[in-house]
Amino acid sequence: MKSTPSKFGKTPHQPSLWTRADALKVHADDPTTTQPLVSANFPVLSDEVFIWDTMPLRDIDGNITSVDGWSVIFTLTADRHPNDPQYLDQNGNYDVIRDWNDRHGRAKMYYWFSRTGKDWKLGGRVMAEGVSPTVREWAGTPILLNEQGEVDLYYTAVTPGATIVKVRGRVVTTEHGVSLVGFEKVKPLFEADGKMYQTEAQNAFWGFRDPWPFRDPKDGKLYMLFEGNVAGERGSHKVGKAEIGDVPPGYEEVGNSRFQTACVGIAVARDEDGDDWEMLPPLLTAIGVNDQTERPHFVFQDGKYYLFTISHTFTYADGVTGPDGVYGFVADSLFGPYVPLNGSGLVLGNPSSQPFQTYSHCVMPNGLVTSFIDSVPTDDTGTQIRIGGTEAPTVGIKIKGLQTFVVAEYDYGYIPPMLDVTLK
Ligand code: FRU
Repeated sequence: MKSTPSKFGKTPHQPSLWTRADALKVHADDPTTTQPLVSANFPVLSDEVFIWDTMPLRDIDGNITSVDGWSVIFTLTADRHPNDPQYLDQNGNYDVIRDWNDRHGRAKMYYWFSRTGKDWKLGGRVMAEGVSPTVREWAGTPILLNEQGEVDLYYTAVTPGATIVKVRGRVVTTEHGVSLVGFEKVKPLFEADGKMYQTEAQNAFWGFRDPWPFRDPKDGKLYMLFEGNVAGERGSHKVGKAEIGDVPPGYEEVGNSRFQTACVGIAVARDEDGDDWEMLPPLLTAIGVNDQTERPHFVFQDGKYYLFTISHTFTYADGVTGPDGVYGFVADSLFGPYVPLNGSGLVLGNPSSQPFQTYSHCVMPNGLVTSFIDSVPTDDTGTQIRIGGTEAPTVGIKIKGLQTFVVAEYDYGYIPPMLDVTLK
């Protein structure tokens, strides 16, 4: 939003491309990249609220951090309305599917705490009503800043518009639990610019959200990933040779895939506090492949940059497809070039027999992958479903060079700390 000249002068990089040829390699139900079946008998975290995107408290380097022995997670959260006449069907029964599908419009940031890294206890809302400037509090990242317990919560303020914002508060612990205090002043950071990142005016279905700040382990500077779409009027994008990639004869036809324009955005901080940011060109684009690369995040391992992002079946372009789940790319330096993990990008997808069982995966540096339960079939035909709105079983993956492998399954919502900070 500011017009300070770029530190970089020239564009420092070309976006890496997730091509249609890469996506043709995506195969659902490969056991090494498929999430184990989630049973329809799952426990729910709360009968009062739905939760979905889960954001574990971490430090700026990505390590999941507990404070005074308490683990803390933030979740997008919405009330359940089992008794609200608005959500009763013609027979007077609670229409939980409709209630669940409407949740995005009333998403609020809540927090939970635990001594065991699971069995989460509800702490409450992070910000009081009226603090956040828009209706929807969408996903982001809570960062523990220091031993005083200060936390910067980066998130997305949506409707009207979509602005990356931050709010600073503090985590306070007692022997009985955790409270979050002082999240009272929300600071807008930036919005899509229409030059690198698509705006609402260019496309009513634009995405601009899900900030994930981090310190580059190599250059030590503060950066932020976020979800975007490539700038330009809807329908104006070209799916050319580069976006198509090296396809076999007969696969050159791209249909209407110009409408799918996802990208992983990146910004660099001009200050150490992360109050002043400059957007840079996307790290990765998926023009002609997919319309959403959501909640991008990194695992830094073996000197490499493992970039993960979640995506959906319904956001794939004509002629390519893949399961709902988390996809990944790897590079030797922050600005790439990135290549898709496992050849295709697919790291952990839903099994085709339960295509909506989980979503919003977050790969942690210890190889554990958390996600939420969306819906699980309760009969063989898949016509009856049970809505989740709760934590899924955590999955363990091994990241090895250009490949990943599913190697373990843990308890529901198991998010153990990687380090503990004793507050002063
Ligand atoms: C992922 C997501 C995020 C967004 C939120 C909205 O599940 O779509 O990209 O911030 O959910 O509810």
